[in-house]
Amino acid sequence: MADNFKDWLDELKAKINIVDVVESYVTLNRKGGKYWACCPFHHEKTPSFSVDEAGMYYCFGCHKGGDAISFVQEAEHTDFMGAVTILAARVGMSVPEFSKKGESAGVSKRKRDRLYDLMRAAASFYHASLMGAAGKRALDYLDDRGISRATVTAFGLGFAPQNGLIDHLREKGFGNSEMLDAGVAGESKSGRIYDVLGGRLIVPIINNLRQVIAFGGRVLEKGEQPKYRNTKETVIFDKSRELFGQHTIKKAMIEGAVDSVIMVEGYMDVISLYQAGIKNCMASMGTALTAQQARLLKRYADKVYISYDGDAAGQKATMRGLDILYGEGLSVKVVSVPGGKDPDEFVREFGKRGYMDLLAQAKPLFEYKLDKLAEGFDLKSAEDRGKYAVEAVKILYELKNPAQVEAYMDYISQKADIPKPVLTRQYAQGAEAEAKPIPKLELTRKSGRYYSAVRYILYALFAGEEGAEEVGLAQYLTDEEHKAIYVEYERIKSLREPNLDDLQALEENYAEVEEIFREGKRVTSEQAPKVFADCVASLEKEKSRREIARLTEQIDKEKDPVARDLLLAQYAELTAKNRK
Ligand code: UTP
Ligand code: MN
Repeated sequence: MADNFKDWLDELKAKINIVDVVESYVTLNRKGGKYWACCPFHHEKTPSFSVDEAGMYYCFGCHKGGDAISFVQEAEHTDFMGAVTILAARVGMSVPEFSKKGESAGVSKRKRDRLYDLMRAAASFYHASLMGAAGKRALDYLDDRGISRATVTAFGLGFAPQNGLIDHLREKGFGNSEMLDAGVAGESKSGRIYDVLGGRLIVPIINNLRQVIAFGGRVLEKGEQPKYRNTKETVIFDKSRELFGQHTIKKAMIEGAVDSVIMVEGYMDVISLYQAGIKNCMASMGTALTAQQARLLKRYADKVYISYDGDAAGQKATMRGLDILYGEGLSVKVVSVPGGKDPDEFVREFGKRGYMDLLAQAKPLFEYKLDKLAEGFDLKSAEDRGKYAVEAVKILYELKNPAQVEAYMDYISQKADIPKPVLTRQYAQGAEAEAKPIPKLELTRKSGRYYSAVRYILYALFAGEEGAEEVGLAQYLTDEEHKAIYVEYERIKSLREPNLDDLQALEENYAEVEEIFREGKRVTSEQAPKVFADCVASLEKEKSRREIARLTEQIDKEKDPVARDLLLAQYAELTAKNRK
């Protein structure tokens, strides 16, 4: 067996056949030495998605392309390690651990695998119980709610008989402590082990790798409390990092392009909308959204509709959740379901069409906020209009895009009937009061070997120094100004030879040009190779420094010990390379 991650990965890559992998998602047709299909990543009617035997895929429509690993990343909305794990399972390889920390990580991986197996076994048992004699009452309940058998299957719904799961799991070889660790069992004072969800309808919570990680259990009788009981957080279930409905949305995305996610509150909302043909829904399981969930969501789409019960979106905790989504760069719209209904009730009454109409009328987050704020004022009274304007303008400070500030200024002006210049003045006054010291920090001159190298090469490029092009500067640029100056260079070069006057002309727009002139003194062509080599070394060093910083951050955040060990392996490789 391979003794480092890279060798192991090479072995995996050699074993996987991209054609087989892709075939498990779409049907491929052979033509002209390649395989073709309609692209699983964007909507199209004629195939422009191709796979070749060299192991690569490429879509001529949406220009997505890569190898089997990136295909699985894209198709399964997972990260590199997630894709590697899926592919390894396909070819019967087990993801190794290259941790030097000895046994502990290995033990915990085995333990986690056991928990996944246990949850899978429990889900099968619950589902079989629902379909068998014991499940009659629960099945009737689902019938009453209009949930079809096909939907029951799609979500793997189940029923937990009062007794049964514990014996069943025991027969399958699971011990009491494992059942307690998985959260499906509780222990009474007398030491008896029982099914914590006994008597309830079961909704399995399935992650993006189609593993069962938890269960929600609903009472069948009206008024019983709590309405839902969920299995506790465990080593495989971190509530703040999961969303309900990932496996169904993924399926929907493979069947046809999905460009948005609809966030709802409840399991039943996801289930009901899915049945109505609206399959891009997920639920946050009754808590305010976290940053981790926002990032997870972003893997699926960059537009999100918030479709909460009644006006739950307006509640403080939820509003914070919406701000988090906006902060992650998602485009956020708020859906209002009329009549105090939840999406499940609404779609059952008005169908897919009715709900799609609601989506079409959804308000962009800031419009929603401004309207919500207006509810607290009487906009017919002059005094209230003034007060509203003050508060409304404050909301605009949260906007990241100046053009949007402008647009919403118009909106407030119309809504409160206050001339825009008045609002603009108010905004400017407030902005001064709100001013934070952060922009100042950015004004301080950046220094160090990396910056010197970048400035030097930029100068050399404009000066037409031989060998400057070969540095491949573009790949090392991180600062917006440097990037913009480089783009200018490329643009001029496509027309004629750039020169130092061109660089000088950029000074008006970019403060950095001054620094470039200061540091970019000319060297003779004899010295050039040595100087450029030094620059490349500094640039490379900075690149790996950033990479290491990024990895360190990832390692800190990663809770999954297997994934973390692989990150650690990458880390070790990188730092070793860096030392050379
Ligand atoms: P809802 O009460 O809106 O759930 O709570 P629902 O799915 O619409 O329930 P039905 O239609 O009455 O069956 C929203 C979510 O909050 C969590 C669950 O995840 C639920 O789906 N919740 C709610 C709990 O965890 N426990 C509770 O007691 C209630
Ligand atoms: Mn409901």
